[in-house]
Amino acid sequence: MTLKTKQAVLRCSTLNKSYTEGPQEVQVLTAIDFEIFAGDRIAIIGSSGSGKTTLLNMLGGLDLPSSGTVELAGKDFSKLNQKQRGQLRNQHLGFVYQFHHLLPEFTALENAAMPLLIAGKSMKEAKAQALKLLEKVSMAERAEHKPAELSGGERQRVALARALVTNPSCVLLDEPTGNLDQQTAAQVQQLITELAENSGTAFVIVTHDIELAQQQNRVLRLDKGQLRAANEA
Ligand SMILES: Nc1ncnc2c1ncn2[C@@H]1O[C@H](COP(=O)(O)OP(=O)(O)OP(=O)(O)O)[C@@H](O)[C@H]1O
Ligand SMILES: [Mg+2]
Repeated sequence: MTLKTKQAVLRCSTLNKSYTEGPQEVQVLTAIDFEIFAGDRIAIIGSSGSGKTTLLNMLGGLDLPSSGTVELAGKDFSKLNQKQRGQLRNQHLGFVYQFHHLLPEFTALENAAMPLLIAGKSMKEAKAQALKLLEKVSMAERAEHKPAELSGGERQRVALARALVTNPSCVLLDEPTGNLDQQTAAQVQQLITELAENSGTAFVIVTHDIELAQQQNRVLRLDKGQLRAANEA
């Protein structure tokens, strides 16, 4: 038993985000406070346009807040330059985008191996690890296929393998089961639970799928720019 204070994997404090559209300023996120610890599985629900993807982009350091801070592994994204943010993300985060963002000219295996190649691993090592992850999402048989030759759900599973390949401390997922049938979605959930429990991986899952949301330990709703427990009025 260690007495060290548990450090949040990801923490955002009084985060605000607004977009300026011509003369108009649109406030999307208002004073969001949020912490995620090892092994947490948090679902974020909210209507279309409520700011879920915007929030994930801030949490992943892909975009910076208008004010407030986001810290990953104790480091404030806004204090880093773009290259350093990329390195921090590569070290600690996995990201499954709402639209898979696989690279079209590379195979499923190469796509899944990419974060390890970026981290400086050898091609052989990266591909061996990527193949293990493709097996976990039942995509090993499609390893040599390019994204255009895969179905939407298959691409999503390759994107999930890519997000998990570095064994990140936190994984951010935007609609990970949007294109999956029930059985495959259940398999993805099983993998998420297993990694959270056995490896302490933390998950933030944005979804419209209430069933998927309810399988996580905490469900938060984004509404009018604010994040609250989903069962609060
Ligand atoms: N780059 C941008 N410039 C201006 N406005 C933006 C930009 N990105 C998002 N928005 C606006 O911010 C709001 C939140 O968008 P966001 O994509 O975060 O919603 P969402 O909750 O992910 O929706 P969905 O469930 O449809 O994916 C929307 O009103 C959107 O029009
Ligand atoms: Mg979205």
